[in-house]
Formats: sequence, structure tokens, C-alpha cells
Amino acid sequence: MTTRCKLPPTAGKHELYEAAVQAPEHESTFLDRLYRRVTGQPARLLREDFCGTAALACAWVQRGRENRAIGVDIDAPTLAWAEANNLAALDAAQRRRITLVRSDVLKLRRPRADLVAALNFSYSVLQTRALMLAYARNARAALKPGGLLVLDAWGGAMTQKPHIDRKRLVGGWTYLWEQASFDPVSHHTVCHIHFEHEGRRRHRKAFTYDWRLWTLPELREILAEAGFRDLQVLWEGTDARSNRGNGVFRPVTRAPADPSWVCYLYGRAPG
Ligand SMILES: C[S@@+](CC[C@H](N)C(=O)[O-])C[C@H]1O[C@@H](n2cnc3c(N)ncnc32)[C@H](O)[C@@H]1O
Repeated sequence: MTTRCKLPPTAGKHELYEAAVQAPEHESTFLDRLYRRVTGQPARLLREDFCGTAALACAWVQRGRENRAIGVDIDAPTLAWAEANNLAALDAAQRRRITLVRSDVLKLRRPRADLVAALNFSYSVLQTRALMLAYARNARAALKPGGLLVLDAWGGAMTQKPHIDRKRLVGGWTYLWEQASFDPVSHHTVCHIHFEHEGRRRHRKAFTYDWRLWTLPELREILAEAGFRDLQVLWEGTDARSNRGNGVFRPVTRAPADPSWVCYLYGRAPG
């Protein structure tokens, strides 16, 4: 949850995942600003769907005394890790403003939130249009009138062929993202996360994702069918010097055909 400067050789897979993949403080700031810009109001209750270790929900309650969060995940051991590590690191007042719920995100509708976020592409586990639509409808029902559903999405030519990306972490650790398979007919993809320590694979297949690679037009059509309005894709700008993403996401109606991109999209529940 909070940025850990050190990763010991004994680090576990959740700790490594958070260090490699997540930026919850940054993401909670992004969501806070986005909600204010779109609705003109501050968001108070965030629901983090597919919350895993609930890093975002924890960062949200740390942002302000009026912020509350619900983390929803179906996996009891992951939620237990979140409780014992991330929630335990909060102070008592922050702890009172966060609730973890073991539930299927397709079913839980109450309490209604200002903002529902499903990040790191977790909804990709829903592999049929019917399931994705059911999720979008449920998220709409779980939002207060005018509330926002925010998803991230990934794509580009690189995400349609098997490959391995490596990223160095601190403490001698390396993160590996292996896209093991991709089927152009169904957009079914299987990906693994591995962690190496000083060249040796310590956590092989730490996480495996059996996913559908959803396209932006599919997601937009599904959100619209579920009743969301003001749909918007937010695309990352490019830093002129490095030619890499600059971390600034702006609304677009067209985008360049980057070989590997990540973006956000949101829809607003009817007010
Ligand atoms: C990629 S991980 C979570 C990542 C986290 N949201 C993040 O931003 O890094 C996906 C999580 O979704 C959970 N999950 C999968 N299907 C679910 C469902 N139908 N309802 C709730 N949680 C689900 C898994 O247990 C897992 O913890």
C-alpha cells in the first residue's frame, strides 16, 4: 500500500505485486481529481472492485478524514492478507472508514458508492459479453445517482502476441509479466506474473490471469447498454523528451496506434 523502500529476499508475492504493479497514492489522487472534474463534487465513498490487497481503498481513506472505502474481492486468503498487512498499517480512525467485503462483484450493490473503480484490468476475468454487461449493470446499481464507474484498459499490437516484459525492482528483485498466449478469435489470453530474486525465479507463476482482452469499443458499448452516460476515454500524453507516457490522462475521441497502451475510461450513472 504505502511505497515500500525495501523488498527483503523473503518478500511474499502480494508485497512484490504491490511494489511492481501498483501506485495507489497516485491512483487515488487521479480518481479524486477526475471525480471532482466530472461531477463538481468531492467523492466520499469509493468502492474498489476486485480489490485484491485493497491498496487503493487504503490510500483512499488516507487521503482525507471524510473519505470512506469498501474493498470487494471474492478470495478470502487475499482479503486476509489485506487485513493483516495493509489495513493493519492504517491508524484507528482510517481503519474505521474502510470495510472489506468478501463477495462476487456481480452481486454486491449496497451501500451505494460515489465512485466504483475496477483497476489493473481485473474485470478481464469476465470473458463473455453477458458477464461483462452484468458487471456493468451491477456497478451502475451500486452507484449513487451521478456516480462514476472507472475502469482501466490495455491494448495495442504488443498485447496480441506472446512475450515477456521485465522490470527491475529494488532489493535484487525483478518482475516478469509473461503474456503466455493470445487467441485472436476469442481474445482469450493467459498471462503470468513471476518474480526473480538475483536471477533465480523465486515466485514462479505467482499470479496467473485467464482473461479476455476487451477492446475499447466493446467496453464503451457495454457501459452504454448498462445505462452509463458521458462515456469518456482518457489517454495518456507523451513526454516530448523521453517519448514515453507522461502520466497525464486527457479525454480523447481518437488516439494513436501505440504498440502497447494503457488508458482509463469512465461512465456516469444517470443522475
Ligand atoms: C488482478 S487482482 C486485483 C488487482 C487489484 N485490483 C489491483 O489494482 O492491482 C484480481 C482480483 O480479482 C478478484 N476476483 C476475481 N473475480 C472476482 C469476482 N467475481 N468478484 C470479486 N473479486 C473477484 C481475485 O480474487 C483477485 O484478488
